[in-house]
Amino acid sequence: MSEPMEISLQNATVGDSLDQNGVSESVPSPILTQEKVLVSVEVCLKASSTSRSDDVRSAVERMLENRSLSYTDGSVPVSLDDPFLVENVQRICICETDEWVEKHDVLLFWQVKPVVHVFQLSEEGPCEESSGDGQLSIFNEWILPAKEFDGLWESLIYEPGLKQRLLRYAASALLFTEKGVNPFLVSWNRIILLHGPPGTGKTSLCKALAQKLSIRFNTRYPQCQLVEVNAHSLFSKWFSESGKLVAKLFQKIQEMVEEETNLVFVLIDEVESLAAARKAALSGSEPSDSIRVVNALLTQLDKLKSSPNVIILTTSNITAAIDIAFVDRADIKAYVGPPTIQARYEILRSCLQELLRSGILTNSQECDRLLLLSYTGLKEKLNVAQIEEPGNPHLCKQLLEAAEACEGLSGRSLRKLPFLAHASLANPYSCDPSKFLCTMTDTAKRECAGLLSES
Ligand SMILES: Nc1ncnc2c1ncn2[C@@H]1O[C@H](COP(=O)(O)OP(=O)(O)OP(=O)(O)O)[C@@H](O)[C@H]1O
Ligand SMILES: [Mg+2]
Repeated sequence: MSEPMEISLQNATVGDSLDQNGVSESVPSPILTQEKVLVSVEVCLKASSTSRSDDVRSAVERMLENRSLSYTDGSVPVSLDDPFLVENVQRICICETDEWVEKHDVLLFWQVKPVVHVFQLSEEGPCEESSGDGQLSIFNEWILPAKEFDGLWESLIYEPGLKQRLLRYAASALLFTEKGVNPFLVSWNRIILLHGPPGTGKTSLCKALAQKLSIRFNTRYPQCQLVEVNAHSLFSKWFSESGKLVAKLFQKIQEMVEEETNLVFVLIDEVESLAAARKAALSGSEPSDSIRVVNALLTQLDKLKSSPNVIILTTSNITAAIDIAFVDRADIKAYVGPPTIQARYEILRSCLQELLRSGILTNSQECDRLLLLSYTGLKEKLNVAQIEEPGNPHLCKQLLEAAEACEGLSGRSLRKLPFLAHASLANPYSCDPSKFLCTMTDTAKRECAGLLSES
């Protein structure tokens, strides 16, 4: 059995992964040296659009050809000269140029070959399947790309390049399958395990990854579904029913998989609960029904993983080896740790920007738009001591202090921090960003002290 590839999504200390220019040394460059750089361009269609994807793709390619600008991550305005695009396109986004830009500063239009992905979001919410007796649902199902997960990928912040690496691993696995690579000669599988402490974004990252892959592979797989298995509900007190529930679940998944233009993601959260249930059953502390259910589930998963159009996404809170054969064989095992200083800064920066956008924080500065520097931008400014430059370095330094005070907090706690800080303000209706940041640093210190006293 081959060793699983361990790709660390842990946010290593800045010194480990970044040189003094803030450039990551370990991140492989996306360059095609003699050729052009492939850059993904995602085009989201309006809900009302009924045009063919191919027509929209050609129109966007033409628009990009006429646009002699540099490429950086973010949205590109839809050309108003093209009524066809205006009618059909909601937004155009350039993705994943940041690795290149961090290393080389700019990516000019003639260096780029845009790869345009056209998609339309499904507005249907999750379709729940419950055990029929008012109990927990046994699984939720979404049609991807779903409106519910729009923007999720972008909101998750890890050290530079890590999400991209995960995306590339999954993309390679799909490509190997698509090209019919002989699994006896080259072995790989489509099982992903994200493990790490609570609240570090593992479940969200699985869902966001499925959403991204559904967009990137939509020419090969025009239909995509995400099935989230609720392992807990299978081990509810209705054990005698559980066997039937597993059978029902996998019958449904099997039907989806049979259609070869369908791409199916199966998400099993907290996969260690399966191992725990089996162990408890073996030791006799659980009804023997339970072991049958776990075994049925594992057998079904084993069967399923040989289907070329299935990706199994699993998460776990424990880092030690999980006693389940199918996860043990996961090719992509990634440790998702608490955010580093850079990620903490960026998470808090996105929170602050949202509070400014919504008017919760009011900008007392003279400039009408408050520009908060990115972490690398701030570090550069601090290095050359250009503190009088635009970009509010004073505020950014305060933001950095707040991020420093959050060491050890999970991404989940960080995203709650601005709310807690706001709730502790004497006057919540008029709040200046600088004062707010002081309160947020104090709140962070209190939260961290709380964590210490709990441990
Ligand atoms: N690195 C991160 N960047 C941005 N947001 C994050 C990050 N980590 C966690 N979050 C936020 O925290 C919330 C919780 O994330 P999620 O439930 O995916 O974590 P988890 O690792 O699955 O937790 P658990 O182990 O408790 O199941 C999400 O809303 C997510 O937006
Ligand atoms: Mg989770």
